[in-house]
Amino acid sequence: MTDRQRALLRGDMEQVVGRLRREETSVAPYREDYRRLLDNHGKMIRAALLLLFGRAGAPAASGPLGPDSPLVTGAAAIEMLHLATLVHDDVLDDADTRRGRPTVHTTRGNKAAIYLGDLILSRYMEIMASIAPDTAFIREQAGTVCEIVGGELLQESARGDTAVTRAYYERAIRGKTAALFRLAATTGVKLGTSDPSPDLLAAAHDFGEHLGMAFQIIDDIGDFDVAHESGKPKLEDIRERIYTLPVILGLESDPAFAQVLESDDPAEVLAYLQAHPSLVDGAKDGARSQLSQARQALDGAPIAPGVSRLLDRLAARLSAQV
Ligand code: FPP
Ligand code: MG
Repeated sequence: MTDRQRALLRGDMEQVVGRLRREETSVAPYREDYRRLLDNHGKMIRAALLLLFGRAGAPAASGPLGPDSPLVTGAAAIEMLHLATLVHDDVLDDADTRRGRPTVHTTRGNKAAIYLGDLILSRYMEIMASIAPDTAFIREQAGTVCEIVGGELLQESARGDTAVTRAYYERAIRGKTAALFRLAATTGVKLGTSDPSPDLLAAAHDFGEHLGMAFQIIDDIGDFDVAHESGKPKLEDIRERIYTLPVILGLESDPAFAQVLESDDPAEVLAYLQAHPSLVDGAKDGARSQLSQARQALDGAPIAPGVSRLLDRLAARLSAQV
């Protein structure tokens, strides 16, 4: 059963990549740049989340999904929303590389990156509108885009603020990252069946959000992990004066750390964190706590056992990184 479901998910993901490739005509004149993004698409965790929750509530859909099925279409659209945010994020963060390759704005300039992000974002909206079962579905998509932008703005307004709190950080990452994971999961439930169970929707909502929180905390810890190549530039947050969980824990435990931060020297901040390993460990505990809450969200939810195991593996994969 599990092997079969794993094989189904693999097949579904191939369909999603195919569906994304068909969209290159809608992003002209940036077709080549879009193609390069897809050639380096990563694990597509948000699309997987959507497909898994889609299958979780629709035991009847036990065969392979077609290229134009609502779940494949929705999963491709969710990845497009994610791609659009990344292309814009790399401009805002002035990041040179992502997934080990030069970013769009580095190779083609800011204007191209903004237009390409805009084109991908508008196609995401158009595609979701075309498969929406009702207006509440559209409202959730639009509201989540607002939350993502709001999360980014919260982060922006705390730039360089040594008084930033853990609660503030959590609010910002809930918006900028966890909201999209949550949306992927609930969209899957809504597209998988015309009559979604409220318990399954609640499980999708909570699982997605906690998984997304863990994902961002782990990503933020990774920024200080200079020994491990991740395809992204290191010490970028600190260079940009964005204070993430290990730094916030440092500020809470030692007010003198603020002076280290104000020196604006990433090497000094790194040296401080390396001399105080409890700070990164504390952040790892934060990520683990989110992952255990994600797993709890699956308890007792009406999810087919094979699918539930796959969701659990998704959380375990992140768990292995902390
Ligand atoms: C990555 O964070 C960025 C996000 C999770 C969200 C970015 C959102 C925007 C730029 C605004 C909304 C844009 C659109 C198109 C609606 P990070 O910089 O911490 O992670 P990274 O290490 O992957 O860059
Ligand atoms: Mg970034």
